Amino acid sequence: MSAATSPLELGLPYPVVVARGVLGSLFELVSQHAPNHRYAFIVDEHVQRLHAPGALRGFPAERTLTLTVPSGEAYKTREEWQRLSDGLLAWGAGRDTTIIAMGGGVTGDLGGFVAATLHRGVPVVQVPTTLLAMVDSSVGGKTGVDTPAGKNLIGAFHDPSLVVADVDVLRTLPPDVRADGLAEMIKHGLIADADVFTELCGLLPDLAGARGAEVESLPDLVARSVAIKAHVVRQDAREAGLRQILNAGHTIAHAIEHVLNFSLSHGSAVAIGLVAEARLAERLGVAEAGLADTVADAVRRAGLPDRLPDGTTDQALVEATRSDKKARGGVVRYALMERVGRMSRGDGGWSLGVGDGDVMGVLGGMRGG
Ligand SMILES: NC(=O)c1ccc[n+]([C@@H]2O[C@H](COP(=O)([O-])OP(=O)(O)OC[C@H]3O[C@@H](n4cnc5c(N)ncnc54)[C@H](O)[C@@H]3O)[C@@H](O)[C@H]2O)c1
Ligand SMILES: [Zn+2]
Repeated sequence: MSAATSPLELGLPYPVVVARGVLGSLFELVSQHAPNHRYAFIVDEHVQRLHAPGALRGFPAERTLTLTVPSGEAYKTREEWQRLSDGLLAWGAGRDTTIIAMGGGVTGDLGGFVAATLHRGVPVVQVPTTLLAMVDSSVGGKTGVDTPAGKNLIGAFHDPSLVVADVDVLRTLPPDVRADGLAEMIKHGLIADADVFTELCGLLPDLAGARGAEVESLPDLVARSVAIKAHVVRQDAREAGLRQILNAGHTIAHAIEHVLNFSLSHGSAVAIGLVAEARLAERLGVAEAGLADTVADAVRRAGLPDRLPDGTTDQALVEATRSDKKARGGVVRYALMERVGRMSRGDGGWSLGVGDGDVMGVLGGMRGG
């Protein structure tokens, strides 16, 4: 196998390939790691137009189906799961079918859930095409759909058989969508690897710029960011403990998204959430002084916000944190940073129950400026 198609050494039960131009070798990789009689692509509509022709090369036309998913979170639904599942069944898809989910996190979660449930589970290959999907959602096996009651409430753990990330496809990704991925990369450095964080910080202005996808070390940075996620999910596949650290910044981020009715991008919400939760960790004496300023500096370098947006009140945000899945017995639990590259174990389970007063104290200082 050529160097470009060699999987990373991640210790996961499935291979993950990250390289420029690797989409042209997709059939070769799928034949090797998830061979089957039939292949069904579930593809985001934009990705279909931009990148599917190259990816489909080599797949046997008479045994390959392509189903397109409309772009956007609004389509990560049970209705779309049903439409796709029915389409596959009408085509005759049996256990002899490998599904290839190609797109951002929406397509990955939806296509993965279709694969998890079709005939009680068929193999899925994840082909992430957004930066966020490459470094975050394609690895870890979480699949699912949203419901009117909330996001990701119906789903299943279903590991992919293979993950193929072609960094070249990021050239067509709009910069604001790329920024969502940068926020998660900042998070990964913060929670587990100070070297990754430092290197990333130096490159953030370039990565966030118009030619960000051209940055030479991007494949390496993506690979190291995936490795951090892999390291965590390998030790805690079912979110029993350590996986909590991946929620860094996300308790506040989810509250902001909720209060603003998802009008702010996830990456922007995560950026603000990371800063807020770093300030919270400092306030509680969990983190060393100066951490929050370091985090704020990083998110600003990525062109992401570090202050609370208009349209949110402290009261509304605190109330929103209470509806988060992570609230236990009425106390909201936070995964808190100790310093760059290291998370706190909290009071067990890598999280800490925090009173509303402390959260209010932090939020109050994060407006204006
Ligand atoms: N399963 C997990 O562990 C996990 C983790 C984090 C996030 N998620 C989920 O991921 C989703 C967000 O994923 P996302 O940020 O990738 O959003 P997304 O899938 O909605 O994609 C964002 C936009 O980018 C477009 N796009 C994708 N690839 C492109 C490319 N190469 N060129 C041009 N346009 C392209 C899409 O059409 C879409 O408009 C959320 O639903 C979230 O819940 C899941
Ligand atoms: Zn996130």
